[in-house]
Amino acid sequence: MSFSTVDFTLADGRDLVYLLVAIGFILALKGLSSPRGARRGNLIGAGAALVAIAMTFTDPAMRDHVAGVSHGLNLALMLIAMALGAVIAVPAARKVKMTAMPQMVAIFNGVGGGAAALVSITEFLKFPHGSVAVYKIFEVIFGVVVGCVSFSGSAIAFAKLQELMTGRPVTYPGQQAINAFVGAAIAALVVATLVTASVPILVVVLVLGLVLGVIFVLPIGGADVPVLISLLNSFTGLAVAASGFTLGSNLLIVAGTLVGASGILLTRMMSKAMGRSLPNILFSAFGSVITAASATGGDDRPVKSGTPDDIGVLLAYARKVAIVPGYGLAVAQAQHVARELADTLAARGVEVYYAIHPVAGRMPGHMNVLLAEANVPYDQLKEMEQANPEMPTTDVALVVGANDTVNPAAKTTPGSPIYGMPIVNVDQAGAVIFLKRSMRPGFAGIDNELLYDPKTTMLFGDAKDSLQKLVAAVESA
Ligand code: TAP
Repeated sequence: MSFSTVDFTLADGRDLVYLLVAIGFILALKGLSSPRGARRGNLIGAGAALVAIAMTFTDPAMRDHVAGVSHGLNLALMLIAMALGAVIAVPAARKVKMTAMPQMVAIFNGVGGGAAALVSITEFLKFPHGSVAVYKIFEVIFGVVVGCVSFSGSAIAFAKLQELMTGRPVTYPGQQAINAFVGAAIAALVVATLVTASVPILVVVLVLGLVLGVIFVLPIGGADVPVLISLLNSFTGLAVAASGFTLGSNLLIVAGTLVGASGILLTRMMSKAMGRSLPNILFSAFGSVITAASATGGDDRPVKSGTPDDIGVLLAYARKVAIVPGYGLAVAQAQHVARELADTLAARGVEVYYAIHPVAGRMPGHMNVLLAEANVPYDQLKEMEQANPEMPTTDVALVVGANDTVNPAAKTTPGSPIYGMPIVNVDQAGAVIFLKRSMRPGFAGIDNELLYDPKTTMLFGDAKDSLQKLVAAVESA
């Protein structure tokens, strides 16, 4: 049969478009993997998603899917659902502060998992009684369980990050055993559903899936939640891929698998950059213990603090300065004034670069996003691996609201919760300036010896405020 005799149907045309959409998603992920390509990647991904949604309206199955419901009504219902979603999501996404981005991702992710579970349940209810292949039932149950865990787990993650409940790990006696019991009960009931295709048993599986999501997330400390969200994101992807198998949609299978794979890769990269294993993040209730000294914000040893004018002179006459941003830069929204300081220094002939730790802040790429918002030139951004060899020849490391990511305990103190985490080696610079409000610790809740080092000078205060004073001091130096 020659190619010209192959019938090219409307369905083939749609599949071809879906293939292009899938390629668009892959190119989007490629773009999102570097700050330079992120904006373009985002646009490509959004464009591909738009085309995918538009194609859904050309699918005849959308019209005759539910027996008895008129074609027009189904399409109208879809448009109403989309309009409602847009009315809620667009203003929320426009207004969200950068520091609140993790909880926004959590809620969107949870809704995705819940939707995948609902699709699977609907398909299950449509199965003709007694004549369904076991693998079909498995696809549905997989979607239901994973979607439910992702939905309720994301809801608790949202509540923790939004401070609607305590952000500390919630622990109770026998917690691991209870979690294991619920997991085992789900596994047993999944087998029972495979054998019986019983709706009541599936409902119990659904409820237990929701319970598992809650109890799985409770012992995870608020600051570990971004890693968890990435894992739940991966779960949602898998649930969506399962719905794709159930609905016979190649695009959902590809898109769900991409989300599942990228979520798990991101989870691995984050745990590696934090120097911790994934089981340690998920099961160790990290953050429930804080040392006495760190709880009160340091011990009684003297620290050297400086005035903006002294530090301004030090910066103005330096040859090479590293700006090392952390979570405090995000809290203070100090990215624009950080750039102003860098520009002022550069105008005086000082070589300035930003040293970016992969888990500085509270979400992947947090610092990159903030600095991109301030239009920091890409050639001034150095990832930790590029920045560290430069540290011994750097005169001043200006640490703006970072703590754990520059804490030498990660290299020197076995047993420290951050031991083994790679850090930005600011301790190797000629002088270190810390801009923070107090001696309080960062996310890991541990002291930082570098704050007491003779080559360190503290400039206490809100990072944005301090940077503004430094700009003025450098200008008049
Ligand atoms: P942290 O170690 O959390 O330290 C942030 C510091 O910023 C605090 O010591 C705080 O001190 C200071 N700060 C807060 N608000 C400030 C403000 N308005 N002005 C000036 N300073 C302010 O930050 P880091 O070095 O970026 O490390 C990130 C931590 O989060 C790591 O332990 C990492 O493992 C963890 N984590 C990261 C991620 C991702 S993906 N990025 C995900 C989960 C966990 P004061 O209170 O004294 O001001």
